[in-house]
Formats: sequence, structure tokens, C-alpha cells
Amino acid sequence: MKFTKLNFNLFTAIAAVSASSIVGFGQNATGGIGGDEYHVNTYKEFRDALNNNGNPNGPKIIYIDSPINGRILDDGTVMTAEGLVPGFNFQKYIDCFIDDGYTWSNTEECNKIEELRKQGVPLQGKQTNVNITPNTIIIGNDDDAIIEEVNFQVKNISNVIIKNLYMESPNDLFPYWEPNDGAQGTWFPEYDSITIRNSTNVWIDNCYFTNGKKTVDKAPLAFGRYVELHDGVIDIVVQSDDITISNNRFENHKKALLIGNSDSRTTDRDSLKVTIHNNVFINCNERLPRVRYGRVHIFNNYYYAETFNPVYKSLTVDNYYHSDNVFPCYFIGIGVESNILSEYNSFNYIGDDKILPADDILVYSYGGYIFHDNGSEFNGQSYDLDAVAKKSFELKVKNKLDQINVSGGKIPFWVNATFTSETFEPTEFYNYNAMKNLDDVNDLINKVPFWMFDNESDDETNEIINVSDIEVEDDQDSENEEVTSTLFN
Ligand SMILES: *[C@@H]1O[C@H](CO)[C@@H](O)[C@H](O)[C@H]1NC(C)=O
Ligand SMILES: *[C@@H]1O[C@H](CO)[C@@H](O)[C@H](O)[C@H]1NC(C)=O
Ligand SMILES: *[C@@H]1O[C@H](CO)[C@@H](O)[C@H](O)[C@H]1NC(C)=O
Ligand SMILES: *[C@@H]1O[C@H](CO)[C@@H](O)[C@H](O)[C@H]1NC(C)=O
Ligand SMILES: *[C@@H]1O[C@H](CO)[C@@H](O)[C@H](O)[C@H]1NC(C)=O
Ligand SMILES: *[C@@H]1O[C@H](CO)[C@@H](O)[C@H](O)[C@H]1NC(C)=O
Ligand SMILES: *[C@@H]1O[C@H](CO)[C@@H](O)[C@H](O)[C@H]1NC(C)=O
Ligand SMILES: *[C@@H]1O[C@H](CO)[C@@H](O)[C@H](O)[C@H]1NC(C)=O
Repeated sequence: MKFTKLNFNLFTAIAAVSASSIVGFGQNATGGIGGDEYHVNTYKEFRDALNNNGNPNGPKIIYIDSPINGRILDDGTVMTAEGLVPGFNFQKYIDCFIDDGYTWSNTEECNKIEELRKQGVPLQGKQTNVNITPNTIIIGNDDDAIIEEVNFQVKNISNVIIKNLYMESPNDLFPYWEPNDGAQGTWFPEYDSITIRNSTNVWIDNCYFTNGKKTVDKAPLAFGRYVELHDGVIDIVVQSDDITISNNRFENHKKALLIGNSDSRTTDRDSLKVTIHNNVFINCNERLPRVRYGRVHIFNNYYYAETFNPVYKSLTVDNYYHSDNVFPCYFIGIGVESNILSEYNSFNYIGDDKILPADDILVYSYGGYIFHDNGSEFNGQSYDLDAVAKKSFELKVKNKLDQINVSGGKIPFWVNATFTSETFEPTEFYNYNAMKNLDDVNDLINKVPFWMFDNESDDETNEIINVSDIEVEDDQDSENEEVTSTLFN
């Protein structure tokens, strides 16, 4: 049985050990330990709890006890595009692009639709976005901890822990079509599950992120393709720092994890330090993660993608016969001034006899040239990922110069850089123990996040953690790490 109810005391205990079980750059996060506790069952109760009785900056622990759906307004009615802006109709918006999507019909009716669309954007934002307050733990209490159609905004704050949630990606009601972006045009949907902006000390652990039933093939068709209604899962931007993403499952989504969102934001240079460990990525197409500027440590993650998946098919530059004039799928994207260490990850990319898997799924360079891998495997074999990264960077330089030669533009500094495998050293920042046996990494698919795979009854669950072993500790001792690791047994 999936989604077993775990009892309250158990989760109090897990919340209590939080501080001592974080590994990586997010290790100083304490969330709301010692603060007031809230049990919330509705979106309004959740927002009220974040306000903490008028002391939003004070510590607080918020238990999500019931499913929360951001589409449900406080009066119980359901938010729709037409309800927010009467007269708007998404199909009419699509139909205003003629010539297979390339040309906007400049009619009075279409311009009115566009005006309504623009009015709808902030109205949906007000309902879908929720500002998380500092010094907060948000923790799923059991299998009802389901968050839908909500974008957690962690903005300008510090010290947030998010654990044990099922988060289904929010859907944009008013996405924007840009016919001239890329060879085939691009949809620009808003809303991630979690947006971390200008914020520090964040730990996201044991969550399940997925598009759920609202996969892209359930969206309307436009110009021969499905409309993309989802943005990222987690975006980490604008000088955010000291973040750990651990023990989560990311499944059936296009763009998963973005770290740094602008090549020109040089103020990100000394931040965007993120640790990504023990996660499972299944049929996500790109950004696992995609990094600009950051120092990112990626260890013990399990990756899986398919060339033949009917909905979340992953195709790389090599699958497209070496054309870089496409948006390729990839696992790790190394962007401008990024510095990335990958260790003991299990990368799996499966093809059929029509489209074979290509190794350029592993690392794709967007101008990044600092990358090293220790001990990872590709489809069960050890593999030289540094060589893949180097080749991708050199191809990017060539393509960039060719493109500038044809279309003009400024030559970026990195065209002169030399690929290097000398990355930062995580142990200068924290201690960690990577699992070196890849069988253990492959086994994560059966364990992460732990609450999804807990088949035991409530009583037996108590044996999984011996509560008497758990004490609130504020140091990083190994005893507590052992207690935490029993969560996954
Ligand atoms: C955490 O706190 C310690 C002690 O204040 C500090 O030295 C360290 O730089 C902080 N950051 C990380 C990522 O450990
Ligand atoms: C975050 O800070 C920026 C810059 O000061 C400000 O424009 C923005 O409104 C702030 N956002 C929130 C949610 O406080
Ligand atoms: C970051 O947040 C702080 C408040 O915590 C604010 O003063 C600052 O302007 C923000 N910076 C940016 C770039 O948004
Ligand atoms: C892993 O890479 C780091 C950073 O480059 C290096 O210091 C370490 O010796 C490597 N370990 C192994 C086992 O290759
Ligand atoms: C740019 O194009 C010209 C003419 O086609 C060619 O001679 C030159 O080598 C190209 N430069 C680069 C950097 O590719
Ligand atoms: C790359 O190096 C060449 C030769 O030193 C130099 O002329 C050119 O300006 C450099 N380009 C960039 C974008 O830094
Ligand atoms: C536990 O649940 C998982 C996921 O539903 C299932 O694959 C597995 O077989 C179950 N294990 C046991 C021992 O029942
Ligand atoms: C829990 O831990 C205590 C103290 O270490 C021990 O006495 C007890 O037997 C343990 N209980 C179980 C069920 O393992």
C-alpha cells in the first residue's frame, strides 16, 4: 500500500531531527524549530499559519494535514480563466495566431483577447503564488499532504525547510506564445512548484514533484504541439545561496531544476551554492539541474529517461543529428561560469531501435566549462563524463561562433575558455558520505521519497524510527545521521 498514514508523534520527531540531518550547503537551515505549531487543512489556513498570528518572521512549524488546491478560492468556488477575466478564452487566444502560429492576427477582437490575457496574469498570480515567511518548516503530516496549483515563493528570506509533500506542478491559465523564440516558437508559462529568489538556508527534502495527471498531453493542442502549461519544478535564482535538495522524486515534467536564470546576472557569482543528493529523476526532459554561476554538488542521484516515452520523450543534440538548432534534452546543463561536481550518480537513458540513446544526454554545455565527475555510471557502466562535458563545451563554442558569424551579436568571453575538470571541493564547506556502491543508488527508485514506499501499518511504522533514539540536536553528529538514514530502510 502506498501513502500510508504516519502518526503525528513520528513527524514531530522528524521535524525535531531536521536540523541535524541536513547534508550539504543547506546544512544550517533550522526552519521553525521551537516555534508555534499549526495544523492546516485549507489554503486559507496555510496562508494564515505563514502569518503566524502577525509575527510572520517568528519560527513556526506548519503541518499540512489535508490536500490543498490553489484553484479553490476561499469562498469554495473554483478559479477559472473565464471567471477571472470574463470574455477571455484560451482557444480564442491560440486561434489569433495564424500561419501555423507565426503571425498574430492584428484584429480588434484578437487585441482585446490579448488585453484580457494580460489582465488575467496578475489575478492568477495573486491566488497561485504564496509568499513563504522566514524561519518556517512546512511538513506533510501524512499521505493527504498534497499541494496542487500552488507556487511556493521563497523570496528575500532565510531559513526554510520543506518536507514530505506531494507537490503537483501548478498550471498557468494565461501562458504566452512567442512565435520567434527558437526555430518552432515557444510557450512561456509561469509558475513553478517552488521558486527560491534572493533567499538562503533552504532545505527541500522527501517531496514528490510531478505533473500528476496534468501531463502536457492533456493540454490543448496549438500548431501541432501541446501547449506547455508548466514552468519549472524548483527555480533557484537571484543570489539565493546555501541550499540542499535531497531525497526527492521528480517525475514527468519538462524543466525540473534551474539554478541561475540569467547569463548577465553577474551578482550571482558568489552565491547559488546548492547540494543535490539522493534524488530520483524519472522522465524529466531537462535541467536536472541547469546551472549558471553556481557551485553545485550533485551526488548519489538516480536518473532515468527514454527516447521513446510517448509524453516525456528525451532527445539530445546527437539524436537530432548534431544540429544545435533545437532545444535538446539533457541531464546536467552547465551554463555560464558554473562549477559543478558530480559524484556517484546513476545515469540511465534508454532507447528503442528507432532512436538509440546518445551519451550527450549526460552533460550539455551552455557555455560552462568547469565540470568533474567521480564514480558515476551511464547505463550501468562507468563512464568518462568529463569527456562528454568537454566535447559539449567545444561544440557549443563552435556553434556560437558560427551563429555570430551568420547573425551577428557579441562574442561571449567563454569562447576563449579551456575546459577544466578542476572544480570546487565540497569538503571545504561541509562533510558528506557519498554511497560508493551504485547498486545503492539504483535502489533509491524503490525508496525515495520514503513516505511513498512505506508499506507498513501505523504501528509497525513506529519501529522504523525508534523515537527514543531521537533527540533534538543542534550539531552535525553522525549518530543523528544514522537515525535519519533509518527513514529509508
Ligand atoms: C553554517 O554555519 C557555520 C557556523 O556559523 C558557518 O561557518 C558556515 O559557513 C555556514 N554555512 C554552511 C554552508 O555551512
Ligand atoms: C524582494 O526584494 C525586492 C528588492 O528589494 C523587492 O522588489 C520585492 O518586492 C521583494 N519581494 C518580496 C516578496 O518581498
Ligand atoms: C534581497 O532581500 C533583501 C531583504 O532580505 C533586500 O533588502 C534586497 O534588496 C533583496 N535583493 C534583491 C536583489 O532582490
Ligand atoms: C572526486 O573529485 C574531487 C574533486 O575533484 C577530488 O578531490 C576527489 O579526489 C575525487 N575522488 C575520487 C574518488 O575520485
Ligand atoms: C565566418 O564566415 C566567413 C565567410 O563565410 C569565413 O571565412 C570565416 O572563417 C568565418 N569565421 C568563423 C569564426 O567561423
Ligand atoms: C579571445 O581571444 C582572442 C585572442 O587573444 C582575443 O582577440 C579576443 O578578443 C578574445 N575574445 C573574447 C570574447 O574575449
Ligand atoms: C511496497 O510498495 C511498493 C510501491 O507501491 C511496491 O512496489 C512494493 O512491492 C511494496 N512492498 C511490499 C513489501 O509490499
Ligand atoms: C529503542 O531504543 C531504546 C534505547 O536505545 C532501546 O532500549 C529499545 O529497545 C529500542 N526499541 C526498539 C523497538 O528497537
